[in-house]
Amino acid sequence: MCGCPRRDAMSTSNAESDEPTKPAFDDEAIESIRHHLLDWYDRHRRDLPWRDIDDPYATWVSEIMLQQTQVSTVVDYYERWLERFPTLESVAEADREEVLDLWEGLGYYRRARYLHRSAQQLVEEGDGTLPDTADELEELPGIGPYTAGAIASIAFDEPTPVVDGNVARVLSRLRTLEGDPKERANEKIQWRLADQLVDPDRPGDFNQAMMELGSAICTPQNPNCLICPVREHCQAFETGQPEQYPEPTDRPTQKSVSAATAVTVRRPEEGLEEFAVVKRPAEGLLGGLWEFPTVELEDDDAIGDRIDTYLAETLGLSAASRVEGRALEDVTHLFSHIRLSLSLRLRVIDAEESTRADDVATERPLKWIARDRLDDLPMSMAMRRVEELALDALDEGEPV
Ligand code: ADE
Repeated sequence: MCGCPRRDAMSTSNAESDEPTKPAFDDEAIESIRHHLLDWYDRHRRDLPWRDIDDPYATWVSEIMLQQTQVSTVVDYYERWLERFPTLESVAEADREEVLDLWEGLGYYRRARYLHRSAQQLVEEGDGTLPDTADELEELPGIGPYTAGAIASIAFDEPTPVVDGNVARVLSRLRTLEGDPKERANEKIQWRLADQLVDPDRPGDFNQAMMELGSAICTPQNPNCLICPVREHCQAFETGQPEQYPEPTDRPTQKSVSAATAVTVRRPEEGLEEFAVVKRPAEGLLGGLWEFPTVELEDDDAIGDRIDTYLAETLGLSAASRVEGRALEDVTHLFSHIRLSLSLRLRVIDAEESTRADDVATERPLKWIARDRLDDLPMSMAMRRVEELALDALDEGEPV
C-alpha cells in the first residue's frame, strides 16, 4: 500500500533468498551491540522533556516536531505546545490559526496542519487516542515509516525499528554499506539491519540510543570513534576511514524564487497604522499563514508594475489610492529546497480608498490589522523580518 521501506523490510513474503547476506549481524554481535549501546545510553543520554513520560500523545507531538528539526530547537516549542494543548482533544478543539501560531518559527508548517487534522480525525472517528502500532500510525497524515517506528517503539514498546539519517549513518558504518544510502535497495538493507538490532525488551530506548549515537558520536565528519560504545563491531572503524561511509549523496539544488512584497499601510484618522495582510492558501508552502501582500515575480517583471497589478486585481487596492511609497532592503530566506528573495515596497495608501473593491472575486481573505496586533497572526520568519524592516522605516519618521 504505502510502498515504504519499513514494511518492505519487515515483510516476510519477499524472496528473502535474493537479499544479500553480507550485511547481517550474527547473534553474538546483536546481543553485544544492544548491551553496549543501552549501557551507554543509560549513562549519557540527554535529559529531554519527552523522555520518561507515559503519554503517547506527547510522544507523537515530540516526534513530529523532531522531523527535520534539531533537538535543541524543539525543546521550547514542545513545552509551550503541551502547556497550551495538554491533550489530544484540546488540539482537536483548537482553531487552525492558534495551532499555526504556536508553530511559528519551527518551519515545515504542514506538520502543524497534519497534527491538527489528525487530532480532529481521531476524536471524530475514534475514541480520541492514537493507534498503537507502527502500521496503523503510518495511516495518519504526516507520519512516515520513521516517525511511526519512533512513536510505536517509544510510546507502545513495539519492537519495531527506526531509520533516520543518523541511524542510516551508524548502520552504514557498522556494516560498511556501499552505494547511495538513499537508494531504495539500500534503504531496505538499513531497515533490515535496524530490525535485527532493535532490542525487544527496550525498543524505544534502543531506537533513541541509535539516533543519539548518530547525532553525538557517529557524526558525518570527525566521528568520535574512541568513545563509541559499539566500536568493536564497526567495520568502518576497522578500515581507518569511517567518514567514507555512507557514500555522499548529490544534494538537490535549491530552486530560486523571486517575489515582491508590498507592505501596505493605511492611517486611520484615529489610532495606530493598519497593515493589509492576506492569508495563504491552506495547503502548500507556508499554508494557512498570514503575509503582507506578496506576488511571485517572473524574470522580466518590473516590480512596481507587478505589485500594482496584483494589489488591484487580486486584492482590490487600486494604484490610485497610493499616497507614499518607497523600496526597503531585500529579504532572503532559505527553505530546505527553495531560496526565496523578496523585494520589498512600503506603500501608504489613502484610508478612504482602502476599502476593498466589491467586485474583486478572490479566495484570499484580506484584512486590515493594527500594528500592535500583527504579532497575534501566525506568520513565517521571512514575514517577521519584513515586518521589522517596515516598522523601522515607519518609525524613522521620514516620508515613505
Ligand atoms: N530524533 C527524532 N526522534 C528523536 C528522539 N526521540 N530522541 C532523539 N532524537 C530524535
